[in-house]
Amino acid sequence: KNCALIMAGGKGERFWPYSTDEKPKQFLNLFDEKTMIQLTVERLKGIIPIENTFVVTGQIYVDLVKEQLPTLPEENIIIEPAGRNTAPCIALSAFYIKEKLGDVNLAVLPADHLVEDVENFQKALTNAFEFINKNKNAIVTLGIKPDRPETGYGYIKYQSEDNLTINESVLKVERFVEKPSLEVAKKYLSEGNYLWNAGIFVWNTETILENTKKFLPNTYNILEEIFKYSGKEYLKILKELYPKVDKISVDYGIMEHAKDIYVIPSEFGWDDVGSWTSVERHSKKDENGNVVDENTYYFDSKANIVKSKKITILNDVENLVVIETDDYLIISSKENIQKIREIKNKITKK
Ligand code: GDD
Ligand code: MG
Repeated sequence: KNCALIMAGGKGERFWPYSTDEKPKQFLNLFDEKTMIQLTVERLKGIIPIENTFVVTGQIYVDLVKEQLPTLPEENIIIEPAGRNTAPCIALSAFYIKEKLGDVNLAVLPADHLVEDVENFQKALTNAFEFINKNKNAIVTLGIKPDRPETGYGYIKYQSEDNLTINESVLKVERFVEKPSLEVAKKYLSEGNYLWNAGIFVWNTETILENTKKFLPNTYNILEEIFKYSGKEYLKILKELYPKVDKISVDYGIMEHAKDIYVIPSEFGWDDVGSWTSVERHSKKDENGNVVDENTYYFDSKANIVKSKKITILNDVENLVVIETDDYLIISSKENIQKIREIKNKITKK
């Protein structure tokens, strides 16, 4: 059986104050009327039914998940009492899903990425499932052709093949390196046979548990203990023990060490939407390159990004980011907008 696990527990830092700790990026509509998590579920349509779709998220986001995904069965929401990063969140989910459905193939997906070409995305995912069906112990990743030495991604070194087909060929991975330094990333780009990790993993629940046991034994033992319980007792012990698991991402904790990793070189208009410039890249723009916003009028202005609740007028300005929420008004140069993250930590809400 093929299932999906959507990871929706990340915090909203980069888009603050448009995104907040209470309502991070996955629950916002950055491009569409639909929110990022709604789009994530929607693009699985036809390959994974909603009953086989699970969402793992923090206790504080459960109500948002229910509100935004009303057709998702309530028992398909897997609750983390505290965020401990993706390795334990995936292992917890594997235990939970295995208990409910038995051993299944699981596509683990981020809740906050953009996919422009759903057809090709589905093609790649279907091929990944097919491969797992034949190779039960394999971990299949989806790899994106890099176009810059980005240091915020994982890099996958693959064994070249002469006639590879995009979204189809499954290649053996030689090495997985999470977030290399700029120098190393530049080297990988010039070497050629590296792809970015899109953050999507297709593997069997059994494989997830075996790898967790091998590389994160402390986390595995704690989870094993938790799953001796059920019902109210489970929730109580989960709250007590889950915070003690290793706080580590699946990339550092498992992918850098695991054997049997494969990659499908993929192309489906992927973007992890890590910055306002990536929002700009994928948004509708007027003839002067301003991001279209329903409340904003641009006059003699160029290349601005505005998200505003008030009627907003920009006159004779360029390359600004203007964000207006109930509590904040931010006006920044586009160039240094990433500094807002630092500024957020310096100021307190008035
Ligand atoms: N439920 C839950 N709990 N979800 C989480 C948690 C957690 O503790 N931590 C993160 N997530 C979710 C985020 O919401 C996001 O959808 C996904 O897991 C990935 O986490 P990020 O924190 O965004 O990871 P990253 O961007 O630094 O790196 C990952 O993604 C890159 C591609 O965007 C890695 O997999 C990289 O290798 C990859 O290149
Ligand atoms: Mg990310």
